Amino acid sequence: MRWFPRSLFGRTLLVLAVGLVFAELASQVVNFFDRGSGVYRLGAQQTALRIAQSARILNRLAPGERSPIIEEMNGPTFSVVLSAAPVEIGAGFAEHDRYERALVALIKYYLRAEWRTSVQITSLGRSRRPANYEAIDTRPIEQWIARYFYFVLPGTYSIVTQIKLEDGTTAVFYARIPQEPLSRLESLLPRLFLTLAIFMLLGAVAVRAITRSLERLAHAAEQVGADPEGSPLPEDGPREVRSVIHAFNRMRQDLRGYVLERARIFGAISHDLQTPITRLRLRAEMIEDAATRAKFLRDLDEIGAMAGSALEFFKTLGNEPQRYPLDVGALLGSLCEDWSETGHDVTVQGVPRGPYNSHPRALRRCLDNLVENALRYGERARITVADNESALRIAVHDEGPGIPEQDLERVFEPFFRLEQSRNRDSGGTGLGLSIARNIARWHGGDIHLRNNPHGKGLIAELILPRSPTRAIR
Ligand SMILES: Nc1ncnc2c1ncn2[C@@H]1O[C@H](COP(=O)(O)OP(=O)(O)OP(=O)(O)O)[C@@H](O)[C@H]1O
Ligand SMILES: [Mg+2]
Repeated sequence: MRWFPRSLFGRTLLVLAVGLVFAELASQVVNFFDRGSGVYRLGAQQTALRIAQSARILNRLAPGERSPIIEEMNGPTFSVVLSAAPVEIGAGFAEHDRYERALVALIKYYLRAEWRTSVQITSLGRSRRPANYEAIDTRPIEQWIARYFYFVLPGTYSIVTQIKLEDGTTAVFYARIPQEPLSRLESLLPRLFLTLAIFMLLGAVAVRAITRSLERLAHAAEQVGADPEGSPLPEDGPREVRSVIHAFNRMRQDLRGYVLERARIFGAISHDLQTPITRLRLRAEMIEDAATRAKFLRDLDEIGAMAGSALEFFKTLGNEPQRYPLDVGALLGSLCEDWSETGHDVTVQGVPRGPYNSHPRALRRCLDNLVENALRYGERARITVADNESALRIAVHDEGPGIPEQDLERVFEPFFRLEQSRNRDSGGTGLGLSIARNIARWHGGDIHLRNNPHGKGLIAELILPRSPTRAIR
């Protein structure tokens, strides 16, 4: 269904338009029947009166004087012939019986005499009608309507009235009751379009207002994810939207409080762990057996490293509640310099378009972790920067073995390390990527890992959203 609009705006307008067309059509049908029956009643009355009056006039005249008068009476929708005996008329339609009975009663009322009167509504027996009656040009749909809703289109059929005058002659009247022409339907189209245009215009304004509120809501929801620490969103718009934005603002505040609280608790634990670890290290030195001592010390080093990196991570979050516009190019430059000074091969390519609103220390830690991995598992790190209005992308390429496809997500889990890197000498605790991703997400962005499709090595890409409405997950 390619024509079906995808936006709420389009869909609502479509529903409105379809509803309006149906409502308009229904009201036109009701109107049509109503008008038709009104016009019919009037026309039937006039025709009955004319027939009765003509019959009374003819009745008064001597047989020899009648034909010039008849000539004057005959017209395009009304004519009369005199016959010695009643004319045989082909059977009419049962649907018209009640109209025939009503016309007989009406004619008799106007006759004010009990002359034998019969009425047949018929399209049969045309050959016996005067010539000016033959040209009834009807379409099948009109015939159908006239058959079942005679009052709407009575003119489609002739009514044949036979009245026996006092001298025994039968006056046979052919008449057509004026009808509400179906062609009036054509005037309906411009009206339909006009009302449609007016309602669509008003509808568009109303629907636009609603969808704009929804867009504001979506924006509010995305802001909660993209920048958990930003200033509260302005609570404006319709009442319902205002209350939801208010709820979002509270949610953001709670979320932030919760995360910072957790960070502080874990930071405190990691910090307090340092003292017992140091005490244990001192005690371990006293172990006599050299091999056992070495094992003890290595385990303690590992625990110390874990507590250390956890502490550093929580510190980066807890101590920097505000973001600053940061020159990421300069940050990468200094990072590169620091690593190069210790003899590592790290290069940067590309510059960001402008400063990025971030937590400088956290962001540096995030990038440091990625570079550290590249150097540890892939010998050298090549950093590329791509920046456009939607996102700032910083990719760290290396030349190592990469990561099996099925583990690309798992390596983000805390303390998860691949089998080949489990050897203690490589020294990692398995927290680096998990910390880096946490920091990226705290900025509304994310980190994606992929193996270099054109060669060996891993590409770790940090994506930071540039436009506040586009949180990248
Ligand atoms: N560039 C890479 N090339 C190959 N494997 C990698 C790369 N980066 C990470 N890995 C794998 O993912 C695992 C998890 O990485 P992560 O940075 O979280 O922990 P770590 O480097 O082992 O320890 P830490 O960074 O905490 O000192 C690593 O142990 C390693 O097996
Ligand atoms: Mg690491």
